[in-house]
Parts: sequence; structure tokens; C-alpha cells
Amino acid sequence: MQTTTDNALEQGSVAAWHDVGEPEDFPDGAVWPVVVDGLPVAVFRDGEGLFALYDLCTHGAAKLSDGWVEDGCVECPLHQGTFDIRTGAPCKAPVTEAVRTFPVRVVAGRVEVGL
Ligand code: FES
Repeated sequence: MQTTTDNALEQGSVAAWHDVGEPEDFPDGAVWPVVVDGLPVAVFRDGEGLFALYDLCTHGAAKLSDGWVEDGCVECPLHQGTFDIRTGAPCKAPVTEAVRTFPVRVVAGRVEVGL
């Protein structure tokens, strides 16, 4: 069985899919840091959906994986700006620039992030 998040469908082509763990490794409402092909990535679960953002705030030097998730947004731990975990769009100041998103899928019981 394969499932793909909405943002994966919007990303266009993917050069490669990278295994980051099992679905159970990513509990609902939490954020988890992983390294994908050398890049820091924050993986989120929101219900049945899995989402991935570049793990660096666009406002400053803070890891989004050190933040927390509420109402579909991750709050940066440094200045409390927020990003939509599905689209990477800024939700609350002081962030004004979107953060990069990555497609996520589950194949044969494994979570994969596309780059
Ligand atoms: S560093 Fe993230 S809001 Fe300022």
C-alpha cells in the first residue's frame, strides 16, 4: 500500500525517496528531526498525514524540530513565529518567508521523504 501526502503531489518530480523510519516513529502532534541526504528535515504527523519541512526557521537560526505543533502549525522556539506544516507558509509573525517542504509517502510500512 502506498499513501502520499497532499504536499507530495504539489512538489513535482522527486529525484529520490529516502527511508526515515516506520509510521509509528512519528506520533500524532509531534515533530521529529531526521537527516535526509545530508539535509536537516523536520517530520510531522497530523492525523493520518505526514509532512516534512526543512528544519531551519527562515527568520533565524532555530530548528523547527525544537518547536511544537498546534492547530496544524509549528511554532519556532526562538521568536514564536509559526509555519503551516502542510505548506511551509508563514502563519504568524515575525516569520514572513515560507520554509521549504518535502514530499512524504509511506511504502511497504516505511516512511520516505523525497528530495
Ligand atoms: S528564528 Fe524563528 S521566529 Fe525568529
